[in-house]
Amino acid sequence: MSDNDPIIARGLKKSFKNVDVLDGIDLRVERGTVLALLGPNGAGKTTTIRILSTLLPPDGGQALVNGFDVVREAKQVRRSIGLTGQYAAVDEYLTGRENLEMMGKLYHLSSNDSKRRAIQLLEEFDLSEAANRIAKTYSGGMRRRLDLALSLVATPPILFLDEPTTGLDPRSRLAIWDRIEKLVYDGTTILLTTQYLDEADKLADRIVVIDHGRVIAEGTSNELKSNVGNERLELVLPTEEEVRKTIEALRTEVLRQEDNRTITVAVDGSITHVKKILDLLQNSAIEVESFTLHKPTLDDVFLQLTGHEATAAETEEDKIK
Ligand SMILES: Nc1ncnc2c1ncn2[C@@H]1O[C@H](COP(=O)(O)OP(=O)(O)OP(=O)(O)O)[C@@H](O)[C@H]1O
Ligand SMILES: [Mg+2]
Repeated sequence: MSDNDPIIARGLKKSFKNVDVLDGIDLRVERGTVLALLGPNGAGKTTTIRILSTLLPPDGGQALVNGFDVVREAKQVRRSIGLTGQYAAVDEYLTGRENLEMMGKLYHLSSNDSKRRAIQLLEEFDLSEAANRIAKTYSGGMRRRLDLALSLVATPPILFLDEPTTGLDPRSRLAIWDRIEKLVYDGTTILLTTQYLDEADKLADRIVVIDHGRVIAEGTSNELKSNVGNERLELVLPTEEEVRKTIEALRTEVLRQEDNRTITVAVDGSITHVKKILDLLQNSAIEVESFTLHKPTLDDVFLQLTGHEATAAETEEDKIK
């Protein structure tokens, strides 16, 4: 962490109609890394991204992007960033190609360069066949891909991605993950929001969890997971009698009884520990119907921190609001 970090926010505040939406957000993203901003719907993720990308002035606090103040030096900030997300840059009445060429012009690329870049990006995002159709006719997934392509016309050093893969099919998601990893490898700094915890797990160097406009946790995915506890072994027994015997045999190692046939045991994740438990049960003539080893997931972290699960089931329409 240094004062040269490309994204720095200190005590960001924002209210809408006297409702505090951001209540002092602090975050930093180191150069060439990915920070994932996680939080339930309405937590303030998009608002944070809009402030950092100069689309919305904060009511308090300060943010520096590429060393420039988002309020006083908005123009320089805009030159340093690419933005894609819930408030899409796509112009519905232009074709995919025109959208991309237009963005090239905005970034002062020459007409030839704009055209060349558009062709490259259409190809890369699997939109070549739809290049000459107006974006209004695109499916949700195609629109997302065009949106992301638009943010890459000028390969800015800093990218803000607000839910880059929401509504995409699995293949397109993987393609975008690949693309994001490549960008980071080339030194791009990325702040992304996502409601897919596996996405944060895969892409993010660090994760900041926000709720009600405050940071409630931060760290690497592993750090956050280790806060929720260790790995656990779930045992399914054939009868309630076997459950009783198991609890007696394992005593303190039992974490809890899940239902009348299932109990959970704390383990350190090693095969030796699991084997020791299964051996003990075998020696006590207890029959185990099945067992599963659970590693803590980011879902567990999210559930514990916010009191509910990340909602991945929302429709595209809900999201765009
Ligand atoms: N322009 C606005 N006027 C009034 N309220 C707003 C405005 N923009 C955002 N809000 C409110 O601020 C809160 C935070 O919104 P924000 O869009 O930042 O949440 P989010 O974390 O991005 O949620 P989601 O996961 O649904 O995208 C919400 O309660 C939202 O209704
Ligand atoms: Mg949002």
